[in-house]
Amino acid sequence: MKILVTGGAGFIGGNFVQYMVNKYPEHMIYNLDLLTYAGDLTKHRDIEHDENYRFVKADIADRATIMELFETEQFDYVVHFAAESHVDRSITEPEIFIQTNVLGTQVLLDAAKAINVKKFVHVSTDEVYGDLDFDPTTFFTEDTPLAPNSPYSASKASSDLLVRAYHETYGLPMNITRCSNNYGPFHFPEKLIPLTISRVLADQKVPVYGNGANVRDWLHVLDHCAAIDLVLHKGENGEVYNVGGHNERTNLEIVKTIIAQLGKSEDLIEFVTDRLGHDLRYAIDPTKLEALGWQPTYNFDTGIEQTIEWYLENKWWWENIISGEYQQYFEKQYGNR
Ligand code: NAD
Ligand code: TYD
Repeated sequence: MKILVTGGAGFIGGNFVQYMVNKYPEHMIYNLDLLTYAGDLTKHRDIEHDENYRFVKADIADRATIMELFETEQFDYVVHFAAESHVDRSITEPEIFIQTNVLGTQVLLDAAKAINVKKFVHVSTDEVYGDLDFDPTTFFTEDTPLAPNSPYSASKASSDLLVRAYHETYGLPMNITRCSNNYGPFHFPEKLIPLTISRVLADQKVPVYGNGANVRDWLHVLDHCAAIDLVLHKGENGEVYNVGGHNERTNLEIVKTIIAQLGKSEDLIEFVTDRLGHDLRYAIDPTKLEALGWQPTYNFDTGIEQTIEWYLENKWWWENIISGEYQQYFEKQYGNR
């Protein structure tokens, strides 16, 4: 069996590639990635020589290359993670989000259709539903209307609709997964949790947008990987599955938890100008996925503890990242802090 994973040099795709290579030695796992600022192969040093792993450097929006690759390799399954994924970058530079997330997805759909893949799993996000108010009894279900608020979530919603249309029009077998915020190993340090860990360790101020009351629903990346594996094998053709583990926390709670575990002072918290169009609250109802047999295995309190430990033990990975081009990004986004 040949399984193509796009975006397998990034955070979630990277964890998924490792999960699949180790779990299914009988399957060939292809990792296709452009290696943008968010992708790196050093995370795969433990699997890079495995016989069932192969890396292909390519842009998903490069039609000729993608069509040829699919014709040559005749993949059985596609699991599509590759995307521009950071909301703040989508606010300052929306165009690349349309190029990669919308046009790139369409190229992959054409290629998957041309060789009749057995299934195309499109990894999407709960952000396509927009946001919820603070009423703790409200959740996103698969029937919640799409109402994206950021250029990032609008580009993901657009790609979801293209996947749906290729299923309805051409009969392409597919599933769409919409997961809440992930955390865990190899999370790129521009996102809230790894950004906070790396800054607190260096005794640097942590920028909290607005008053820090916005709520995110956090899921360990390996629980997300298991959910995608399950949907790949057991998901009903054409269905959407929400993924989340009921771990709602305010941003301020997250930052304070990390500061406490690292034994530092809350004086490091700095409230800064709010993100434009900042979504208030995300919260997932995962009932439909649970009916397929999925349950999260990480509890948030121990999961975040282990993740902080992982960042302490794996400085080789993230210190290298924040020493390069990342510095310019940080200054542009937050000014000199
Ligand atoms: P990431 O930014 O860490 O990784 C994205 C990867 O895609 C990188 O390796 C990058 O090099 C690659 N890529 C970007 N443009 C490409 C192109 N044109 N061609 C080929 N490869 C390209 O992202 P992530 O956080 O791992 O998210 C992966 C997917 O999961 C995304 O589709 C995202 O929308 C979705 N998702 C993320 C979260 C989250 O909390 N991070 C939650 C739900 C869903
Ligand atoms: P982020 O990790 O960018 O994920 P997303 O925007 O996809 O949810 O942000 C998580 C939350 O943390 C979000 O409400 C914005 C907030 N945030 C900050 O307060 N400060 C920061 O520097 C960043 C990057 C995010």
